Amino acid sequence: MDKTQWNERKKIIEKALVEELQEDKALDPRLCEAMKYSLTAGGKRLRPILVMAAADAIGATGTDYIHIACALEMIHTYSLIHDDLPAMDNDDYRRGKLTNHKVFGEGMAVLAGDALLTQAFEVILRQDNVPAEVLVQVVREVAIGAGPNGMGGGQSIDLEAEGHQMAMTIDDLRKMHGAKTGALFRAAVRSGAIVAGAKPEELTALTRYADCFGLAFQITDDILDVVGDEAVIGKPVGSDERNEKSTYVTLTSLDEAKKMAADAVNEAVDALSMFGDKAAFLRELVECLLNRNK
Ligand code: IPE
Ligand code: IPE
Ligand code: MG
Ligand code: MG
Ligand code: MG
Repeated sequence: MDKTQWNERKKIIEKALVEELQEDKALDPRLCEAMKYSLTAGGKRLRPILVMAAADAIGATGTDYIHIACALEMIHTYSLIHDDLPAMDNDDYRRGKLTNHKVFGEGMAVLAGDALLTQAFEVILRQDNVPAEVLVQVVREVAIGAGPNGMGGGQSIDLEAEGHQMAMTIDDLRKMHGAKTGALFRAAVRSGAIVAGAKPEELTALTRYADCFGLAFQITDDILDVVGDEAVIGKPVGSDERNEKSTYVTLTSLDEAKKMAADAVNEAVDALSMFGDKAAFLRELVECLLNRNK
């Protein structure tokens, strides 16, 4: 795919992320530094890109929703900081750098995550070109996506299934992936669509796209945990095996997992049929997942 637009928007997002922190107003500069360390460490910026791309697909201009886009990235970054903690996946590298707790200590990493999550909701409210009643809907979407029936709940099932203490079927795995990874993608896409004024049938179609995107994304993440190149993915390979995680690869096989990812991508593309050319970017983005190396 032509990544020009993706790269241009990544630059806009990365500049805005630092501004959102409002470092000059920080009560504790060290906490702000810990938040900034992980926020500026790189990453694909897929969730904010999806906020914008969903708005584009409805006929609006994605970059008009930069605060909402940043908020999704702040929540995602918080989830990564906590996911890497010794009490969770215990990983030392993320985005090609030492993990937050390795640099700032575990206590500060917990607080940096908490602060990013909480500040994200205030950042959503900085989007003053969106009517208040629509912003309330966005807050709801994002809270559901991050909360106990979304990312938080999915992460807790992941934790409970470690060491195979809890037997997982493919169906359980699909639910876990849908929550721990899918829910934030769903919130990103739905938020972009809602602020752009999506009709109910458009919102339904984009929600299906997001769910399939999330599934394909986590299956390919599980595959990369086995066959990826550490220097490229910027995080340890073999983390899932070390933690005895239940993944698509461990429950089926590498080939079967690849096939399932391909099926999810096809379904995501299918969900975009009503949008025509306006969804060209969304289509290419999900197709990219099948041969991603990071
Ligand atoms: C990693 O997400 C965590 C998962 C949900 C699998 P990304 O692969 O989007 O991480 P970054 O933001 O690019 O670092
Ligand atoms: C966690 O999945 C997804 C999150 C909600 C952070 P993983 O534990 O597989 O993510 P990575 O591989 O560490 O990025
Ligand atoms: Mg994890
Ligand atoms: Mg992890
Ligand atoms: Mg992983």
